[in-house]
Amino acid sequence: MKFPQDFIERVRESTNIVDIISQYVQLRRTGNNFQGLCPFHNEKSGSFSVSLDKQVYHCFGCKASGNVYTFVQQFQALTFPESVEYLAKRAGLALPEVSRGEAQRTDAKQTLFKVNSLAAQFYHEQLKRLPETSDVKKYLVTRGLNEELINLYKIGYAPDDWSKLAEYFENKKVPMTVAEQLGLVKRRTGGKSGHFDMFRHRLIFPIFSSTGQCLGFGGRVFSKEQQPKYLNSPDSPAFHKGKVFYGLDHSAKYIRSEDEAIVVEGYMDWLALAKYAVNNMVATLGTALTQDHARVIKRYTNRVLLLFDGDEAGKTAATRSLPILLNEGLHARGLFLPENLDPDDFLKKYGVTELRKVIAQAPDLFDLVTTHAWLQAKGSASGQIQLMDEFAPILAQTNDPRYRSLYIRNFANMLDVDARLVEQSVKKVLSGSPAAPLKPVLARPAAPAPKPIQEAVVEAPKPLLFDLKKAPNSEVELLNVILLKEVYLKEALESGIDDQFAHPGVKLVFKRIAEVYRQMPSKFDSLSALLAGEVTPVEIITRHLSGNYTGLDNEAAHKLLQDCIKRVKQNFLRVKSKELVSSLRGAGPANPTDQLEQIMNIHKSRKSLNRE
Ligand code: UTP
Ligand code: MN
Repeated sequence: MKFPQDFIERVRESTNIVDIISQYVQLRRTGNNFQGLCPFHNEKSGSFSVSLDKQVYHCFGCKASGNVYTFVQQFQALTFPESVEYLAKRAGLALPEVSRGEAQRTDAKQTLFKVNSLAAQFYHEQLKRLPETSDVKKYLVTRGLNEELINLYKIGYAPDDWSKLAEYFENKKVPMTVAEQLGLVKRRTGGKSGHFDMFRHRLIFPIFSSTGQCLGFGGRVFSKEQQPKYLNSPDSPAFHKGKVFYGLDHSAKYIRSEDEAIVVEGYMDWLALAKYAVNNMVATLGTALTQDHARVIKRYTNRVLLLFDGDEAGKTAATRSLPILLNEGLHARGLFLPENLDPDDFLKKYGVTELRKVIAQAPDLFDLVTTHAWLQAKGSASGQIQLMDEFAPILAQTNDPRYRSLYIRNFANMLDVDARLVEQSVKKVLSGSPAAPLKPVLARPAAPAPKPIQEAVVEAPKPLLFDLKKAPNSEVELLNVILLKEVYLKEALESGIDDQFAHPGVKLVFKRIAEVYRQMPSKFDSLSALLAGEVTPVEIITRHLSGNYTGLDNEAAHKLLQDCIKRVKQNFLRVKSKELVSSLRGAGPANPTDQLEQIMNIHKSRKSLNRE
């Protein structure tokens, strides 16, 4: 809605900026000014000042400044019209007349929101009413949803009954056509009168807009027998699944202040993060991220982190989101959690400190997605071409030229091709029909493994078959240590042990680490994260995360590394000499003197290793 200028002024004049800001910031009076801790950046000194006379604020630290409208827009993450409406309501001013058509549409929508709010309240009360011993309440405990979370996020329960909500609505004289439109009830058929409830025996998560309007619901079952697992409100003028996020009412202001939005895939992940005091996240509702979603994020920040499940579906979703985010000019990072965990399970297993750690190291989404595709292509020449064809359209859509050239460089490095070659493919896309190549790329499922070229496949392709539990301790420890610091990794790479591991799984993991590191030497900090979605390194990454190794000081870690290298070498030589000796004892080789010499050499090496 567009407001006349004089109304905007009148609202400003009727509002005291000090009252508004004091709702969120503790202000101390100093003359005609007020001072406090700046809500727009982290500080301890109190550089934030509000002027009563001028009705403005200014931060001497981060230079944030503005009037009451900018404050409300930034801090509460409202649009300008929303902030006018909000402040007018607070000041008790009636909104100006609008055109009839517009008014009717607005009224109709407001009615939808009102009926939804009524339902949210109803479901919430139903949940509160249940005894602690009920199965529903017990389920909440198992999911870690405590009373505080239930109240804060108005979680509810749709009773195990056909018409509790319908009856409630009839009592409250709610227009049933509206309730039907919202997917809350449905008219009975077969000559029966009245309505029945759509959500029955489900845990209810109400979905609110950033201004707190109730847009719709998600309802989760309690057992596997009930289907579908989640029932969401149908699309209506109040609710568009491809546009809304769960949790934005709470998180909008944090996304702005942290300057990054973490996107998760579901209600439970969102709530798990909220429980651990992570606040700047939103959840999609089981749909892929859309351009509309990206636009919503862009209202609050330019930075996004996709925190998706590490399973195939999560990887596909991340790959599909990449061009959408880049197209919106957003800077995207991404993370696949190890062991196919979703954020909820990861938090349960490793806690929030670990999550924050992996989040801090999350690589660019572009690098993450391309690395995964590259590892699948196993470095073959056909893979190089295929990947260039696949990612050129995405690079072409990267709106920010700085990121585009950065990605082109990284990508070319990774593929080990001349950057100009990549640039050419991008240009070709740009000069051709720009929209066309995007669709087939996005429509196909998670990069299928390209046909392997015979020479290129050097190892058994399924690393998953190896069980690292059976690997010698020194080898698994070595893998963990080299992920701690770049210097350790370099030292191990230079030690020449890559072919000496006894365990084939370790050999393969070591090779993968080396491979990814050589492709992106500047990304050592993201190495664990880049590898975490892979099946093989899961176990080492897990041990890595468990803190056994991160707690080591430099000296201890380095000593451990050297010790591991030595043990791997010793073991290798021991096995080798055994093999030679037994082959001598057997049928007898063609050239025994040659073999004897080899054995002597091995003995020499073993001796010198033992002296070290
Ligand atoms: P998940 O199946 O990953 O569920 O779906 P979840 O959020 O981790 O929940 P728990 O931990 O199993 O309880 C992710 C999201 O996809 C949507 C929901 O928004 C869900 O949060 N979804 C899933 C549906 O809309 N319908 C479904 O049947 C399943
Ligand atoms: Mn889950």
